[in-house]
Amino acid sequence: MALPESFIIEIKERNDITDVASSYVNLKKRGRNMVGLCPFHGEKTPSFNIYTENGSFYCFGCGVGGDVITFIMKIENLDYIDAVRFLAQRCGLNMPEDGYDDSMSALRKRIYEANREAARFFYKTLYSPNGKVGLDYFHGRALSDRTIRHFGLGYADANSYSLCDHLRSLGFKNNEIVAANLAFQRDNGNIFDRFRDRVMFPIIDLRGNVIAFGGRIMTDQKPKYLNTSDTPVFKKSANLFSLNNAKNSGEKALILCEGYMDVIAVNQAGFQNAVATLGTALTPEQALLMKRYADEVIICYDSDEAGQKATARAIDLLRNAGLLIKVITIPDGKDPDEFLRNRGAEGHDAFKNVIERSGNDLEYRLEKLRRKYNLNQTEDKVAFLTEAVRILASIDSAIEQDVYISKLSKETEVSPDSIKQQMSKYQKRKRYSQRKSDFRNLQQNLSGRNDKINPDRYKKPRAAVAEESLLAYMIKHPDKLSLIESQLSSEKFQTEFNRKLYIYFSDRIKNGYDPLSSVSGDFTGDETARIFRIVNSEFSRIATESTLRENINVINDEYSKLKTADMATASDEDIASQLRRLRESHQ
Ligand code: CTP
Ligand code: MN
Repeated sequence: MALPESFIIEIKERNDITDVASSYVNLKKRGRNMVGLCPFHGEKTPSFNIYTENGSFYCFGCGVGGDVITFIMKIENLDYIDAVRFLAQRCGLNMPEDGYDDSMSALRKRIYEANREAARFFYKTLYSPNGKVGLDYFHGRALSDRTIRHFGLGYADANSYSLCDHLRSLGFKNNEIVAANLAFQRDNGNIFDRFRDRVMFPIIDLRGNVIAFGGRIMTDQKPKYLNTSDTPVFKKSANLFSLNNAKNSGEKALILCEGYMDVIAVNQAGFQNAVATLGTALTPEQALLMKRYADEVIICYDSDEAGQKATARAIDLLRNAGLLIKVITIPDGKDPDEFLRNRGAEGHDAFKNVIERSGNDLEYRLEKLRRKYNLNQTEDKVAFLTEAVRILASIDSAIEQDVYISKLSKETEVSPDSIKQQMSKYQKRKRYSQRKSDFRNLQQNLSGRNDKINPDRYKKPRAAVAEESLLAYMIKHPDKLSLIESQLSSEKFQTEFNRKLYIYFSDRIKNGYDPLSSVSGDFTGDETARIFRIVNSEFSRIATESTLRENINVINDEYSKLKTADMATASDEDIASQLRRLRESHQ
């Protein structure tokens, strides 16, 4: 994993973290640092910080942090070497010829190539005599040849070896084909095609790479869709079908559909901004991904029960990501694909109409409630209002709240004041339970019982804080290392992780390296985040030589306390031998 130190330093010098991050995050200056809404979790007030002084970032909301390389790894979903390569390209540097383990990166490249060739092969098969069933199927579903070409749709024939044979003839190795999840391997080592007798939907990322496939069977057999499992180039929870098209649509809104065919039909009707998840329910990662390319999401899920459940879930996730939301209810037909097919040439206008008539998510939720109750009955009216008030309580804008309150008041003939009263009662109760759970979380975090990086920390808080403070000082003032080392040895550290850091950083400093430049390559993502939390913490900023002395004292003090405690539980013999050793060491 060792890229030359000088190369990493040059990469970092030429890729200023503020420049790099600002193409993904809206940053504002705050003091010496930059802040913005975190791209790695949903939030309404900014807790994502960039520290220009040491080229790092840290989010106090979700605890993600690191340097510019970590940032690219996370946001572009790349491994370390590929993130460095990405930054090298960005600033026009060539990667060194060797000196680092490139095997993962090389495998990823082969997987991209195998996928691309597979997509070509499936497309070619579709238009061969062998693929007539597939082509008839697509035509039967009203897709034009232009649309088929645009999406690169294809057909995997019924023979178990067609694709494997083809890829091998192009020089791909069995292990590469299996790693791409295009084939399975038998116990005897032979491989055979994963996708057989299915029409194929390639999934393309924002850089234009084919990263996966969905394949639909043309009969009633199960599973209806077979998708590529996660591979080194594909994480289904972090990608969206057709985002590559939607990104270039010039629209500020995305249309979120349930399936491949919906997205394609919506595209064919003239709306390029449709996307879909890849065989799973919407994830927070996908919601944040959408937020990077749009302000608004129009949810266009199936009108069946499953679709409506998924809608409720999606509303919460998209709201959390800070997106505006509209909800389309498909008037007839189960999904957008059926709706459009029923309309034929009128599809575009009809769908546009549906979009324009769609309400925001509040209207959608209130409408669903309305259908649940009979508003002519007093009991139902009360129950309806009780639930409706809860929905309104979730709105941030007071004006918007007022508008809906007066609407509800007219509808139910209950005075706006009583509705308001009911709402403030509910809000009070909610705030109380929110505070209670915040407090519980805070307590748990402060106690640090679930600290996985440094599990000793909660048992030795005094020592741990001093250790971290000392580490931060040492990283900032490498010239003070010999002073520190003369008064403190690594064995005095009481928490394992901080001891590891002490050894690591003193080693780097002694060898003349910048302490932080290789952290993102040498530690895991979680460890890197912890290190940058320590480096950028409040006590790092206020550290002086006198706080350094205090910290050394605390660490030494805690260490000798530990020794005394040990002696309290030791046998007479143990104590005698301990004393002997102590006396010897003082002579
Ligand atoms: N899906 C899946 N695996 C299945 C069924 C569904 O991955 N066994 C995913 C697919 O991405 C599919 C989406 O869920 O596109 C929606 O499923 P469904 O509504 O059943 O299919 P449609 O999109 O309506 O597909 P079609 O119109 O081809 O029947
Ligand atoms: Mn369908």
